[in-house]
Amino acid sequence: MPSRSIGIFDSGEGGLTVAREIVRHMPGENLIYVCDTARFPYGPRPLSQVRGFLRDFTRFFADQDCKLVVVACNTATVAALDLLDDGLALPAIGVVGPGARAAATATRNGRIGVVATQATCASRIYPRLIAGLRPAVTVRQQPCPVLVIRAEEGVIDGPQVREDVRRCLAPLLAEDIDTLVLGCTHFPHMQHVIAEIAGPGVTLVDPGVATGREVARRLAASAQANPSGDTGRRSFYTTGDPQRFIRVASRLWPGVVKTAERIPLVV
Ligand code: DGL
Repeated sequence: MPSRSIGIFDSGEGGLTVAREIVRHMPGENLIYVCDTARFPYGPRPLSQVRGFLRDFTRFFADQDCKLVVVACNTATVAALDLLDDGLALPAIGVVGPGARAAATATRNGRIGVVATQATCASRIYPRLIAGLRPAVTVRQQPCPVLVIRAEEGVIDGPQVREDVRRCLAPLLAEDIDTLVLGCTHFPHMQHVIAEIAGPGVTLVDPGVATGREVARRLAASAQANPSGDTGRRSFYTTGDPQRFIRVASRLWPGVVKTAERIPLVV
């Protein structure tokens, strides 16, 4: 049934940047957003553990009768890349594939930078996928865990963030990149600061943008897009403190997140 919800998952507030893209493309879709704030951040965790978390949350989405899961977290996408098509309780789309394709298309000088979590960088997923598309392209990665923490606190500009961004980008800008992948869904929340520090010569790639388009395409192709002209229902769940989630979310995505519920840890 097309009116079934889309499940969206992240460790925290980052996945809201992907949810926003989905809403932009498909305002009528019903969404269930779930984040695992109690175990945030995922970046320093072993991928095998994150893989288990995602498996369990996908069962939660299946219990809610979702039609599709969007893994709105690069780290969890890396952890479960081989499971996305048919290894989970529901079909799932991750952000990494659409992001790598967008970056490979965007670069003109063949030098791409990636900012992401420690786990995403260690997996070398972006260099591998981009090399498969454009073998001559060079990809330089930079883990930026401090930016993940800032965005999760809702701190997305000001002198401290500018200094943190400057430090994260310096090694990449020194390599003359012309394209920068925001390889963690928390980072588009501070895209305005990143763009300013990267400068006009660097194209920013937010994998959430291409993922939003991919979700729309996938639903249309399987006749599951919701044709309703009304604005969809949006429900928010966290394993952490719902009031804190709402407080930060209303800074990051004003006017949308008004209520949230706590769900118990499922593992
Ligand atoms: N937003 C997530 C990502 O895209 C995870 C950040 C974290 O929990 O460390 O990787």
